[in-house]
Amino acid sequence: MALQTTNNIWHNGNLIPWDKAQIHVMSHVVHYGSAVFEGIRCYAQPNGAGVFRLHEHMARMLDSAKIYRMPVPYTVDQLCAAAVEVVEANGVAPCYLRPIAFRGYGEVGVNPLKNPVEVYIANFPWGKYVSGNDGADVCVSSWNRLAPNTMPSLAKASANYMNSQLIRMEAEVNGYSEGIALDVNGYLSEGSGENLFLVRGGVLYTTPLANSVLSGITRNSVLTLARELGIEIVEQALPREMLYIADEAFFTGTAAEVTHLRSVDRILVGDGTMGPVTTALHEEFFALVNGLKPDRHNWLTPVNVKVAEPVGA
Ligand SMILES: Cc1ncc(COP(=O)(O)O)c(C=O)c1O
Repeated sequence: MALQTTNNIWHNGNLIPWDKAQIHVMSHVVHYGSAVFEGIRCYAQPNGAGVFRLHEHMARMLDSAKIYRMPVPYTVDQLCAAAVEVVEANGVAPCYLRPIAFRGYGEVGVNPLKNPVEVYIANFPWGKYVSGNDGADVCVSSWNRLAPNTMPSLAKASANYMNSQLIRMEAEVNGYSEGIALDVNGYLSEGSGENLFLVRGGVLYTTPLANSVLSGITRNSVLTLARELGIEIVEQALPREMLYIADEAFFTGTAAEVTHLRSVDRILVGDGTMGPVTTALHEEFFALVNGLKPDRHNWLTPVNVKVAEPVGA
């Protein structure tokens, strides 16, 4: 999907024009993937627009930076204010936000500690991420997810996405929308950019953090909603074949939102349609983010942007 540009990008405290947000080819990040980032959605609502779980995303970016000994000179609150500033300056909602902190120009050795840390926040329109209107047809990847104590899965680091690229490219080249990776021990892990949920016998299963998954903010939101709906939740290591005998399966993620899986490796999940547990969670999730139900968890940060088509208009 081609990137749609906006006017401004926030850089180290200032708004700069989109075209001026450039770095030197010898920047550390270009050579070694030394960046941490976030993906955040801003949703249209009946009376405006709101950024979903902004605080949690910025907190996770600072956690990712801490794991990599990267000092980011902004607090969570400052980063949240910067995100609101750039969305309002660009006047584009709904949109996707991409904050990124990376090691810039300086040393060329692997050790990044002397390289400056640069922080940028961009926002732009972005629609559906996992294709398939009647559910996604996905495969199990031949690539494993990151082994423990290699690349830390809890850090949303750019370098991790070389692994995600292998998973996603293989899936698309073979005619699938997305790939699901196993962990180093052959247990289910996650999609290239999504957490994984299964339903069997009315019980909701998801893979725990120990199976090399990102601690997804949508995953956390869906678990919260499931608890409120009285759905039994089991977080445990899951064998691959649970995918083939599940009644329902879905991905969660900022980009993927809640995407139901129609088939895995050409085996239908249940009867292929969106099942009742997925439907209940999907409806509750979209009712909240689209402002059709009160924001009882304070998950939305309002932004002062005139949306093109308010929800329910
Ligand atoms: C590898 C990976 N897993 C899971 C997720 C879902 O996380 P979240 O719901 O916080 O977007 C993402 C997306 O950020 C991801 O890249």
